[in-house]
Amino acid sequence: MATAALEAIRSGSPAILPSFLRCDFGDLKGELSRLTDAGVKGLHLDVMDGHFVPNLTYGMPIVEGLRRHTDLPLDVHLMIRDPLAYAKPMVEAGADLLTFHIEALRPDEAPDVAAAVKEMGVGVGVALNPETPLSTVTSCLELVDMVLIMSVEAGFGGQAFNATVLDKLRSLRVSHPSLLLQIDGGIDLQTIKPARDAGCDLFVVGSAIFKQDDYASALRGLEAAMQAEGGSIDLGENSSGNLNSDQGSNI
Ligand code: DX5
Ligand code: ZN
Repeated sequence: MATAALEAIRSGSPAILPSFLRCDFGDLKGELSRLTDAGVKGLHLDVMDGHFVPNLTYGMPIVEGLRRHTDLPLDVHLMIRDPLAYAKPMVEAGADLLTFHIEALRPDEAPDVAAAVKEMGVGVGVALNPETPLSTVTSCLELVDMVLIMSVEAGFGGQAFNATVLDKLRSLRVSHPSLLLQIDGGIDLQTIKPARDAGCDLFVVGSAIFKQDDYASALRGLEAAMQAEGGSIDLGENSSGNLNSDQGSNI
């Protein structure tokens, strides 16, 4: 399943992946059904441990529960201090793609963690926060399927998009043309096209979907904005975009 799911993600890109952070946790099955009806190509699951980031979300039981009700690829974003300790349980719970944060590891650990996750038969990604230089992931770029460029500091939904990270996308797109590139944080109708133009394949979206009543129309709007002809709007790449208003809100 997992390798096929990774191929489905790859062949379905560019794609928007809704983030299960801004959803209604009291109605997960309903959320899943609304997103499936809207035609999403995969789900992004934000796992936080209250240590690596100052927020706590969910773990294997939610991943396993969603897995029982969907065949959609499950893209699990591990914002946790010890990713390898939870990799196997997450794979057993049904994750198809596991992404760990480079900041959670010592530099010499990253290649081993990437290789160990890959050995488990799933896709593997490495994530970097906005202030983390691209050079920190050089040692594992040949071992991962995906690089997740964070456009907000990991931990909370609803933060403002930081346009300075677009340079990382551009640089990776040129140096590693076949690597999947994902962006996460503050993606909306204004920011999705600059990210696409910078070479991004997968767009994680929380607020811009879950704050809308109609997920299908939110998704169509984002897809249209991503594919729009013409130049990107200038997001002011020397500073944070500050395009969203409800910064730092919790889940
Ligand atoms: C942040 C999470 C994101 C976030 C996206 O740590 O990884 O997935 O929830 O939400 P928005 O789109 O609201 O920034
Ligand atoms: Zn995420």
